[in-house]
Amino acid sequence: MTTDNIADPKPTGKLLLRVVPMPADVNRNGNIFGGWVMSQMDIAGGILANQRARSRVATVSVQTINFIRPINVGDIVCVFGEIVRIGRTSITVYLEVYVSPVLPPPLDENESFLVASSAFTFVAIDEHGRPHPVDR
Ligand SMILES: CC(C)(COP(=O)(O)OP(=O)(O)OC[C@H]1O[C@@H](n2cnc3c(N)ncnc32)[C@H](O)[C@@H]1OP(=O)(O)O)[C@@H](O)C(=O)NCCC(=O)NCCS
Repeated sequence: MTTDNIADPKPTGKLLLRVVPMPADVNRNGNIFGGWVMSQMDIAGGILANQRARSRVATVSVQTINFIRPINVGDIVCVFGEIVRIGRTSITVYLEVYVSPVLPPPLDENESFLVASSAFTFVAIDEHGRPHPVDR
């Protein structure tokens, strides 16, 4: 899976994180700050990579993040992801962020929109912070 499928209305992978942004997370336009979104993606991808590596992981790289629609305070933000590559010590997770808007109330409570996508690469690290091989 690549970041090319941003028009796909169905989430890719499994639900990793569900969170509601607060007023402290807004930018000067009144929408949620892109860095906050990136942070949630990093946390969500880290959960999956951590489970797969069965060890601590460190984020080593982030592909282009496509911010597709704005997020507002109070929206329900869901991060989905799946592992798309396992290297010797690295794990790449493709992530999609979906939002269920709070205002205006959605007609369908399952209504949600893709707002961002990217792929994050994590490295399995030992207790000294050094890369270690991931079991295949
Ligand atoms: C992650 C870290 C431990 C890797 O150490 P390193 O000495 O660069 O390790 P290596 O060169 O052996 O690379 C380890 C793996 O990362 C991959 N990698 C390194 N740089 C990469 C990059 N820019 N993009 C994608 N993968 C990368 C390598 O290909 C290798 O993968 P593989 O073993 O599956 O083939 C080290 O760079 C680090 O601590 N970085 C800071 C991490 C951090 O603090 N992240 C939080 C955000 S600031």
